Amino acid sequence: MQQALEALLKEALGLDAASIGASAVERAVQLRMEASNLPDLREYIEFARASEAELQQLIETIVVPETWFWRDPQAFDLLSRWVFESWLPKNPQGPLRLLSLPCSSGEEPYSMAMTLFEAGFPAGRLSIDAVDISERALALARRAVYGKNSFRGPELALREHHFDAIDGAWHLHESVRSHVRFQQSNLFARDFLPGAERYDAIFCRNVLIYFDRETQDHAVAVLERLLAAKGIVFVGPSETSLLLSHGFEAIKVPLAFAFQRRGTPSAAQRPAARVVALAPERPPLPRQSLAPVSVESQTTEPCSGFDQAEALADAGQFSEAEALCAARVKQFGPAARAFRLMAMIRAEAGDLDAAAANYRSALYLDPNDYEALIHLGLLLEKRGDATAANVMFQRARRIESRAPGAAS
Ligand SMILES: C[S@@+](CC[C@H](N)C(=O)[O-])C[C@H]1O[C@@H](n2cnc3c(N)ncnc32)[C@H](O)[C@@H]1O
Repeated sequence: MQQALEALLKEALGLDAASIGASAVERAVQLRMEASNLPDLREYIEFARASEAELQQLIETIVVPETWFWRDPQAFDLLSRWVFESWLPKNPQGPLRLLSLPCSSGEEPYSMAMTLFEAGFPAGRLSIDAVDISERALALARRAVYGKNSFRGPELALREHHFDAIDGAWHLHESVRSHVRFQQSNLFARDFLPGAERYDAIFCRNVLIYFDRETQDHAVAVLERLLAAKGIVFVGPSETSLLLSHGFEAIKVPLAFAFQRRGTPSAAQRPAARVVALAPERPPLPRQSLAPVSVESQTTEPCSGFDQAEALADAGQFSEAEALCAARVKQFGPAARAFRLMAMIRAEAGDLDAAAANYRSALYLDPNDYEALIHLGLLLEKRGDATAANVMFQRARRIESRAPGAAS
């Protein structure tokens, strides 16, 4: 019966039950069985298969809608730089088309809009579509009233610009809301965004982790159909290796987790001086906090061989990258950067024990390695150890709040 339940969840939303753990699945199904007055699992599964409304209720109970404004802020900074330095010069007219998939309760697509407006992008040219399978999350997104849990980063000054504080909640201004179109859909639906014009940038973050490999491949095929030839796609911190095996290459901006089709020239990778020359009229970004958080850990270690190892990993040559890391550690001594890379490669191979051990070694060497904290947190979360995961996320948040420009 467990198998029938897992098959139903995979069909309904692509979910790999193992990704959220047996107890989370059990809890959600138990709740729905009680609400439907059906104590027998077999009967409940039959009912959910027959009733679209009940299936949607089950989906609502099981999805993880966790999101917040400017989550992984470097992604929004890169979006803005890429738009001004690469997209605008080639597209002096016409709309910039962005997609947030999945958008959950709206913080992500609204963050895209606010970031671009802050940087001076013309409002009349911005078009954002935002899609999620959860009606409940979309209702919150359309309402656009948020509590303090939606603001976890150092962007409090931006909050003052775009929200009104009313009775302890933050109401987003219509001038931002009106640029985002929300719609409910399953990204695996046969008619998902049919005939949609391609998007210049797609945020597909923190959902691929819930799919098995076959389903992830399907999701990437959807992204490929929807992304403009020179478009840019953003994924979540622990989803970065997937696109490498699908003809994408990483844009090497730390903590932005962004990709383009292999061979696309990217202005965002050029040195800063060139970038300034390309966009002289652009006002500076107001948020210094968008600078890479773990600069220290990236500059104090000897980089002998690590750039090469990272390039090999980016190109999908994982065993070569891993071997090079191990050799360099032997030659030069332990380095957080090497252990972090080896951890990512082990995680990609499904060897989660070794991945966790490598992340811990990285953190032993550099307790402020932001990326290692986030990745280890996600790994622990995936294994159902929410308490240990939260410890990692809290440590990462403390580092974020110490970043230059963070609100004190
Ligand atoms: C963790 S949130 C990510 C939100 C946002 N992208 C972010 O990174 O903060 C995951 C969202 O994925 C949505 N979701 C899960 N499976 C989906 C599917 N098959 N199609 C569309 N949305 C899906 C859930 O409803 C949930 O709101």
